[in-house]
Amino acid sequence: MLPHVPTLIGRKRDGESLASGEIRALIEGYTQGEVPDYQMSAFAMAVYFKGMNAVETAALTQAMLESGETFTHPADHPPVIDKHSTGGIGDKVSLPLAPLLACTGAWVPMVSGRGLGITGGTLDKLESIPGFKVGLGLEDAQQQLARLGVVMMGQTASFCPADRKLYSLRDVTGTVASIPLITASIMSKKLAESLDRLVLDVKFGSGAFMKTKEDATALADSMIAVGKEMGVDVQACLNPMSEPLGRAVGNALEVAEAIDCLNGAGPADLRELVLDLAEAVTSNSREELARLLDDGTARAKFNEMVAAQGGSPADLEDLTNIHAAPLIEEVPAPDTGTITAVDAGLIGQAALQLGAGRSRATDPVDFSVGFDQLVKCGESVHQGHPLCRIHARTRVDFEMAEALIDQAIVIEP
Ligand code: URA
Repeated sequence: MLPHVPTLIGRKRDGESLASGEIRALIEGYTQGEVPDYQMSAFAMAVYFKGMNAVETAALTQAMLESGETFTHPADHPPVIDKHSTGGIGDKVSLPLAPLLACTGAWVPMVSGRGLGITGGTLDKLESIPGFKVGLGLEDAQQQLARLGVVMMGQTASFCPADRKLYSLRDVTGTVASIPLITASIMSKKLAESLDRLVLDVKFGSGAFMKTKEDATALADSMIAVGKEMGVDVQACLNPMSEPLGRAVGNALEVAEAIDCLNGAGPADLRELVLDLAEAVTSNSREELARLLDDGTARAKFNEMVAAQGGSPADLEDLTNIHAAPLIEEVPAPDTGTITAVDAGLIGQAALQLGAGRSRATDPVDFSVGFDQLVKCGESVHQGHPLCRIHARTRVDFEMAEALIDQAIVIEP
């Protein structure tokens, strides 16, 4: 039976621990529409400020996991593996990584999210590929997994429905950066995949939800503890998110960069992170994994997946023309010197304001807007040479983004 929800919210607001049954009833009520968004937002804000202990976090994860169906794999299945990132700016790793992992013979049932706060989301990026369907039914997803070894999809009304609702609510209510809420969101999706092994890419820095390495370590420990309790081999890699990953931020622009990576090219930091995470979650050597990127094997797998999920591989090389922003202009460097900072938080904020993310749960995202050709820390620039290109809808948006770029990029003589 649904407990008195205002009392539960008040008890969490006052720092009390809730019983597992109370948390389960709340999540069930929310999933079924008995608990409205306004009460769940208040509850999420209470958790944001007062936290949850390990038992409550495990109960929240379990309740969210049990809100929908889960993958069932045949007895003789190959290793079922995945990675999940806690979210960053320009983080398009999943796009090359999922097909790469599938090329090692593993099964990769990757369930991802949309943009959250200032960070981009794999589902929004995938939907910039015309026709690509992320809302697969479990039956179809399992068949595709058995056929291709990879499927990339989102939460649906029957698969992780609690996370689907709570994720979009947190996105627009300032309740993302909470260790128990992130743990339950990520681990409920990953446990619903019925995985053997999971690698977590836990980010820290201005473009991440955890601003310090200490907080990121606490988040990693929380997710590892839940994984252990549920019998999944989980390891975490801590990675800085002080500058964006790669040189592109924005949905279609990031897919284009991910395609470069799948063509054996693209920015070095993206390729290295893809290989680091692949090495952590498979038993293949780095050389073997690099070869699968360089010889087109992983790219061919990505093309197969795109075709299976309703897209056309022929569109992939042309995405930035299919989604061309009305205004694409370079930002010239004001001085000559070395780049010492490219603040990921400010760039993420600018991308959000350009229209790459959402302010309200029902907002559409604009696939075309964002940044590309971004400079990286340590590079030298000459006055007047480009720091990046801004892709904007209007001159006003362009000027807003240019002002944030001016703050974000530091050049020292
Ligand atoms: N990724 C998720 O899936 N959920 C979060 O809460 C944060 C990052």
